Amino acid sequence: MVDVWESDALSFEIKGASFSSPIILASGTAGYGYELEGILDFSKIGAVVTKGISPKPRDGNPSPRIAEFSVKGFQIALLNSIGLQNPGARAFAKDHMPKLKKIPTKIIANVFGEKERDYPHVIKVLENSENPPDAYELNLSCPNTQKGGIEFGVNPKSVQRIVRLCRKSTSRPILVKFSPFSEILPQLVRISLSEGADAFTISNTLPSALWDKKYGFFKGGMSGYPLKPVVLRCVIELCERFEDIKIIGCGGIYNFDDAMEYFLAGATAVQIGTATFLNPKTAEEIYDNLLSELKKSGKTLREIIGSGLKITAYQRN
Ligand SMILES: Cc1cc2nc3c(=O)[nH]c(=O)nc-3n(C[C@H](O)[C@H](O)[C@H](O)COP(=O)(O)O)c2cc1C
Repeated sequence: MVDVWESDALSFEIKGASFSSPIILASGTAGYGYELEGILDFSKIGAVVTKGISPKPRDGNPSPRIAEFSVKGFQIALLNSIGLQNPGARAFAKDHMPKLKKIPTKIIANVFGEKERDYPHVIKVLENSENPPDAYELNLSCPNTQKGGIEFGVNPKSVQRIVRLCRKSTSRPILVKFSPFSEILPQLVRISLSEGADAFTISNTLPSALWDKKYGFFKGGMSGYPLKPVVLRCVIELCERFEDIKIIGCGGIYNFDDAMEYFLAGATAVQIGTATFLNPKTAEEIYDNLLSELKKSGKTLREIIGSGLKITAYQRN
């Protein structure tokens, strides 16, 4: 359990909602979240992001849906093409939210749509349910579906319309989750901010492909180690450009050092994805290490966030 000093030292806010820890479980990588009860100490986890939820149930893609990318037997990345299998917003609100609400952490609902109006639709269903989530994450970046997701997230007009409609549908915090793939990420962020987005999850998986002798080419979204430098670059560029922006860094975080790189780049919090498959206690271990390092150094996390931006390779040479 965390004490009062700890929760104060590591807490952060988005649109008035307080999160007790900057370590969050990423969408789609921790089941619904409650499956980890009894394994993880949720008082050390700032939030659980749910699987992607769409208006209607989705079966997802046929198998194979996951491919492992290994070097010398060590898994360094995953390619997934789940296709956002989920029971649909109404069943999710009825069957899963009551269980999720019992976990002692915040719940962020990850929202997905094939049409622009699907996003506010899902939010309205959850808002009108008995157990609404604490915040929403708009998945404008799934690379594994034929319609929606990444298609909207690289189109400034779609981003503008979706964020505007969602803002009208809830007063809770809205996070927008983008792909690291877009060359116009700063423009998309600026538009989202002007339409009322509160924070950004950077990022989703990177569209990639692997060759398999048995199955041929497998196309999917890459997650894990190789994603980290790509996403870090995006986080740095956004934090340099936008003052006081709230970025949740997500991509290839396996341990405390990985998380620290994101904080140095300016991220307010981090999400842990693929690493949870290898070790379900990864997020808790990162929290413990972060806390003990802060105590040792006498620094606050707020002092560390963004401090790496002042040191560039040019200055070091
Ligand atoms: C099996 C799997 C399922 C995922 N499902 C979702 C999803 O439903 N919605 C979403 O926004 N991101 C989803 N993601 C992306 C992760 O939330 C995360 O953004 C990505 O894996 C990068 O983080 P990582 O390198 O720590 O895994 C999924 C990732 C994996 C590996």
